[in-house]
Amino acid sequence: MELDGKVALITGAGHGIGAAMAHRFAQEGAAGLFLVDLDGPAVDALASELTTAGTPTAAQTVDVADPDAVREMVASAQARFGAVDVLCSNAGIGTAQGLDADAATWDRSWSVNVLAHVHAAEAAIPGMVERGGGYVVATCSAAGLLTMVGDAPYSVTKHAAVAFAEWLAVTYGPQGVRVSALCPQGVATALLDGGDGGNSLSSRIVRSAAEVLQPEDVAQSVIDGMAEERFLILPHAQVAEHYRKKAADPDRWIGAMQRFAAAIEDGG
Ligand SMILES: NC(=O)c1ccc[n+]([C@@H]2O[C@H](COP(=O)([O-])OP(=O)(O)OC[C@H]3O[C@@H](n4cnc5c(N)ncnc54)[C@H](O)[C@@H]3O)[C@@H](O)[C@H]2O)c1
Repeated sequence: MELDGKVALITGAGHGIGAAMAHRFAQEGAAGLFLVDLDGPAVDALASELTTAGTPTAAQTVDVADPDAVREMVASAQARFGAVDVLCSNAGIGTAQGLDADAATWDRSWSVNVLAHVHAAEAAIPGMVERGGGYVVATCSAAGLLTMVGDAPYSVTKHAAVAFAEWLAVTYGPQGVRVSALCPQGVATALLDGGDGGNSLSSRIVRSAAEVLQPEDVAQSVIDGMAEERFLILPHAQVAEHYRKKAADPDRWIGAMQRFAAAIEDGG
């Protein structure tokens, strides 16, 4: 799908990858953008910048962990622009925790990283089917195909996000809805810094595993992946090879990950 003339709703658009997608979609000629984030002032500022530059853009402050707010967000975008052609479920959170993660941390991770995608799709897909098609981009992570050492809730919920995107693609593809799961490794955003300057084990692992891309590089991969209507969008090409190796020999893969994690923990 080309973005030219399309209306896109992007969650987590205040910063990082979501903001870069908004800029890139505007450059591609999107007819309208509906940007949401917990950080209201950030999406408000981006919306006025893009509107001034010629792309009609609206902003809403939304906590995507709230199912009613997510449904309302889709309805507001449809009311404002007449349709949502492209839904980017992009807002996401990491925890940098393992077995120490408490129930509230697991709940919040499920709500933001998985259920927000479910509720947004529930609200947006019927309109797409009615109009003969649409596009869902689910920002997952390479952690949703492999794992994220040092972050159990992130690994588990990103796997679930990939699984939901795959289910959507299989179920609604025949009705014209295309789906992509965006699965980057490290990207230079606040999420990778983790609020501690990037010292957590998960941040150190990600930075050691592969080149850290800029959000703009990821936005370009989204444009390319959407043009080709590819299910897996992998801004770091080597993730495909890791995924193949893991599927071919899971025990060997886990052994390699254990050695890699041990080397990083030891300061390697
Ligand atoms: N940065 C990376 O290394 C990396 C790698 C793979 C995947 N991802 C994924 O990319 C997506 C975007 O993250 P990013 O790296 O741009 O980080 P970021 O922190 O720069 O941006 C995330 C945005 O989501 C917003 N957000 C968080 N919780 C929200 C909520 N409950 N409701 C509404 N908005 C909320 C934040 O305010 C922020 O603007 C996430 O899903 C993340 O898991 C990031």
